[in-house]
Amino acid sequence: MYDTPSPLRLDGDRLFILDQTLLPFAEQEVALETGAQAARAIATMQVRGAPLIGAIGAFGLAMALRDAADDAALDEAVRALGATRPTAVNLAWALHRVATLVRPLPPAARAAAAWREALAICDEDRAANRRIGELTLELMQAITPRIKPQSGRLNLMTHCNAGWLATTGWGTALAGIYLAHAAGIDLHVWVSETRPRNQGLLTAWELAGAGVPHTVIADNAAGQLMREGQVDAVIIGADRVAANGDVANKVGSYLKALAARDSGLPFWVAAPWSTVDEGCAGGASIPIEARDGDELRVVRGAAGRVRQLGPDSPVANPAFDITPAHLVTALITERGIVYPAGGMPEGVPEGVHFAGTRAE
Ligand code: MRU
Repeated sequence: MYDTPSPLRLDGDRLFILDQTLLPFAEQEVALETGAQAARAIATMQVRGAPLIGAIGAFGLAMALRDAADDAALDEAVRALGATRPTAVNLAWALHRVATLVRPLPPAARAAAAWREALAICDEDRAANRRIGELTLELMQAITPRIKPQSGRLNLMTHCNAGWLATTGWGTALAGIYLAHAAGIDLHVWVSETRPRNQGLLTAWELAGAGVPHTVIADNAAGQLMREGQVDAVIIGADRVAANGDVANKVGSYLKALAARDSGLPFWVAAPWSTVDEGCAGGASIPIEARDGDELRVVRGAAGRVRQLGPDSPVANPAFDITPAHLVTALITERGIVYPAGGMPEGVPEGVHFAGTRAE
């Protein structure tokens, strides 16, 4: 059976990550040995992507508890790890899950229990993503005869990186693409660059590794390609899904959703249930991470760093945006498919249910 790589590797009780700040130019593993190192890896985006951030947060908490495990230390580790990246709810979810499990235990037993729970989070994430891939494949198969009567090539567009690099395996938006490719479906993926951190280049690297046909585009080319009929559906991941179906994802996702709606294209969001924030009423309540302005002022590439704006140039760098639920054709989770925009499109598989409420 086809499987994907993982951005993390375990050797006994040691954790190694693939340093994503060096990709796609160099593949280098880094050992994480303390809670502080895990927090730094998340903050600097050596690891990134909502489900992966959650998993590394859980391991980070376990490693912090190896050094000190009383209640005060537990609270401080949760606070420090949780403060690294505010938008992806998987981080808060994983920290809460691990902390809730270990708090009733004697301090001496907490680190090992936390490590076991982090392993369980990884196993569940891979299984969820694989299931998301199967459901996405069904969606693809449902739309292909309608839009391609001659069964021509299916053209998908994605944004940012929601592949195996962003999870513990498979990815979310890319899981179905990998399954479709393995099943011999003729598909091609438009990959938007995703300024300023260029996560689209990670997606291109992943797809190239799996032999999936793809083309990188500048972010601003997306709308024109949709208007020209060169795109059949857009699929992205998510960092947080609110209870009303609003979606926080990498900045630029909202513009793609608007363009997809104008061109009458499906706009799919693939995310595990750990990304659904049941306590968050709507997108307006989701914190949007503002990252360092140097991510815009300084371009990073194979030749190193090139400054394109002076250090005092004012810049704004919101890392995420909100796509309102009414623009989301399908939310694909391991529990089933939800149709936030209302109405189930003809020919697609039966989903969980929807009407602005969540599926169970
Ligand atoms: O800032 P990043 O690279 O962590 O943001 C990642 C994204 O926005 C992804 O599209 C999202 O997390 C989905 S990951 C499966």
